[in-house]
Amino acid sequence: MAKDFSTMDDCNPSHNQSIHDLSNPLRRTILRGGLATTISSLLAPLGAVSLSGCSTTPTGIGPMLGFKSVTMNDLDTVTVPDGYRVQVLYRWGDAVGIAGNMPAYKSDASNTATEQEAQAGMHHDGIHYFPLDGSQRGLLVMNHEYTDDGLLHVGGMRDWSAEKVAKAQAAMGVSVIEIVNRGNSWEVVRPSRFARRVTATTPMLITGPARGHARLRTRDDASGAVVLGTVNNCAHGFTPWGTYLTCEENFNGYFNGPDKPDADQARWGLKKGGAGYRWHEFDERFDVARHPNEYNRFGWVVEIDPMDPTSTPVKRTALGRAAHEGAHVTQTRDGRVVVYMGEDSRFEYIYKFVSRDAVRPGGAKANADLLDHGTLYVARFNAGGRGEWIELTQGKNGLTAERGFASQGDVVISTRQASDLVGATKMDRPEWIASDAKTGWVYCTLTNNATRGKPGFPGVDAANPRVENTMGNIIRWKEDGDFAATTFAWNHFVMAGNPVLDRADAKGNVKGDQLGSPDGLWVDGRGVLWIETDISTSTLGKGDYAATPNNGMYAADTTTGEIRRFLVGPRGCELTGVIMTPDMKSLFVNIQHPGEPASERSNPDEVMKVSTWPDKARPRSATIVITRADGGVIGA
Ligand code: FEO
Ligand code: CA
Ligand code: CA
Repeated sequence: MAKDFSTMDDCNPSHNQSIHDLSNPLRRTILRGGLATTISSLLAPLGAVSLSGCSTTPTGIGPMLGFKSVTMNDLDTVTVPDGYRVQVLYRWGDAVGIAGNMPAYKSDASNTATEQEAQAGMHHDGIHYFPLDGSQRGLLVMNHEYTDDGLLHVGGMRDWSAEKVAKAQAAMGVSVIEIVNRGNSWEVVRPSRFARRVTATTPMLITGPARGHARLRTRDDASGAVVLGTVNNCAHGFTPWGTYLTCEENFNGYFNGPDKPDADQARWGLKKGGAGYRWHEFDERFDVARHPNEYNRFGWVVEIDPMDPTSTPVKRTALGRAAHEGAHVTQTRDGRVVVYMGEDSRFEYIYKFVSRDAVRPGGAKANADLLDHGTLYVARFNAGGRGEWIELTQGKNGLTAERGFASQGDVVISTRQASDLVGATKMDRPEWIASDAKTGWVYCTLTNNATRGKPGFPGVDAANPRVENTMGNIIRWKEDGDFAATTFAWNHFVMAGNPVLDRADAKGNVKGDQLGSPDGLWVDGRGVLWIETDISTSTLGKGDYAATPNNGMYAADTTTGEIRRFLVGPRGCELTGVIMTPDMKSLFVNIQHPGEPASERSNPDEVMKVSTWPDKARPRSATIVITRADGGVIGA
């Protein structure tokens, strides 16, 4: 079972000489594997596909990786390379900046639900910077993925109440804040006419093929076209017309299932007593037994126009329904958009949506329905480094009325089942996706899947080759021609892991610094691939991964394959969002759930034994800004 992953590496192996810290004997071992690599195994299946990704000399500013690696540590702080500065900018509970409504954060968690609606939510995740004045002033738009009710309320989940449910619903969703560069630091502009929170109760429209579908109609919405709120907002996307996409990931965790779940409810894991967030006890629409269609109204990609705080968010059903991690947007040469989406659940899928129409000039209003019309595909990764996109269109590929797909609405509501039927590849938890416009490579983090190959679960395949995959990998593909193509070439960019381990699930082929469970992913303007990790706290600090107690963020030179550690987060956190200003001189990173695992709905006193970041008090997820003391480009 121990596959030699080193032979799947590509690119010029002589570049391995640039890898730092060659004194480490383990690293030298890894390097020898890299030097033995030939590119012929990759070249063979590619056919007409360009291999420019392996031969292109970066044309950006400075060397691809111009910083000294940060050492692994378990400090309760953010560690960055020498010459870099860290500023905490926007923490859970900080005022968003709505005029006349800027409640101060109370460190004992006694802010009310109403106050929380005007404050930063919990658990920062995907993030994007929308310029207002280039790299000096802009909007930061970010997700707040979920709540830690142990920290959110006085007394945690004891004395559970309607007020606590309302506060939890107000603490997730999306923040829109205005920020300005004051020279030595960034500030949140308060008040700002753009400041906004989108929460689990914000009215939203439903558009696309599922709009008005019988399975989307409820007691409170007979139209099946209007829904309250968005939940579990994980990763994100942004469009060429200036809107933000927030993605509903593990929405099923908010719904209490019925006594006897039907097949669809079981596919989503709904069961009685399965809603750990306990919203249904005071908000009955989250009780599936009483409102059987409400959960069909979640699991979508939601589009928000951050420039218009009065705009109504829209759930775009043409992109399919899934436990959406993110929605990465790129464009074809003829101007259509292609949206790549991973579904972060074990044995779920990777999707692609290709718009019918090209992007029109005129911004958000001119493209208000662009994501409503197009073709949805799911990926099949075949052996031999080739793959195909299988169309998920009613009437094609067996998606017929006899099999439960009488309309395209049926297909997009039951995207998982449609993907099962067409024989898509069941992946090891696809998280973020990023593309490199210069090379055409599209990267996707497959964070881990500890059940792969266990009795009763799917076995390994070419794309998911590790039994009980604890460390994850980054897979990548290059479309045959433009991004709208239906076939592609693929390989593994890296198998993550700890080089000292000899187990197939844990020993990686990383050229450079050890990492595990890659999650966040973004390609910057120079072509550097930024990787954020989310090793489970049940794995961190124990056994296999004892040498890497805190999660971190890494920069990869995709021309050489080198991965170098740029940042280590505080204790118990995962690194989530990542984006820079256009000049690449300010880097925004989201730090999520410092203090885990003790933080999960538990006693704050216990949590603070793990982490008190960033205030030396109850820990708070936060956006940080990283700049260089010399004002230079980040990472160069
Ligand atoms: Fe919300 Fe899959 O991370
Ligand atoms: Ca994630
Ligand atoms: Ca993750």
